[in-house]
Amino acid sequence: MGGNWKMNLDRAGAVKLASATREALGSITSAVDVVLFPSFTLIEPVATALAGSAMAVGAQDCSAEALGAFTGQVSCDMVKEAGATWCVIGHSERRHGLAESDDLVGEKVLRALGSGMKIVLCVGETKQEREAGHAHQVNVRQLRSALVDVTEEHMAHVVVAYEPVWAIGTGLSASPQDAQDAHHQLRRELASLYNAPLGDSVRIVYGGSLNPANASTLCALPDVDGGLVGGASLKVPDFLAVCAAAAARTAANLAH
Ligand code: PGA
Repeated sequence: MGGNWKMNLDRAGAVKLASATREALGSITSAVDVVLFPSFTLIEPVATALAGSAMAVGAQDCSAEALGAFTGQVSCDMVKEAGATWCVIGHSERRHGLAESDDLVGEKVLRALGSGMKIVLCVGETKQEREAGHAHQVNVRQLRSALVDVTEEHMAHVVVAYEPVWAIGTGLSASPQDAQDAHHQLRRELASLYNAPLGDSVRIVYGGSLNPANASTLCALPDVDGGLVGGASLKVPDFLAVCAAAAARTAANLAH
């Protein structure tokens, strides 16, 4: 489960939320990997607040470049030094809000993995693309181009997030059927790009208005392995409920 805090909170608020989330999740973090993604300037205080827990901290983006004359960008080494071990790459608010191309997303993926980070690679179709019947095609295109030159070994550090753009921050989540279909398609694509065991083992998480009301249903779907949570990660009881739904899924898997 990822908590994508986006461009919210000040330093004191971030420390308070990280500490309260840590406290609330308690033993859930032994069953579910939980990563918080604060803004760059908040990575260090959040990492300090989570030190000694099973929770991790990630960056919401990274530069495709290692260092140099790239005004305004932040490198993987910089976020790692601040305490981040994960990075979100290709979030739709960057693809569509900042015109990040498939190629740039692919370069960032290689840079982050090469730097030893774990990544959450986001893919997802817009409303128009879905209505035109192109959802699967768009998701597969984004997946393929992001993974060009990514080795099978590096795939152990990749989580894929299916985030339909029309579901992000709108309160309209994907239907269970649509989410399952999209995840299944992505898994099949991973199997064909690499091999069947890898397709089975890569975690594919859902993002887009995940909340306490829909988390149990969405997290129980066969090909949904967790979630990337925006708005609900800013409210401790909501994030707790969503993480508890993921923990219930883990428990059900272990019982089989
Ligand atoms: P949301 O955001 O949960 O607020 O829809 C999800 C995301 O952007 O990762």
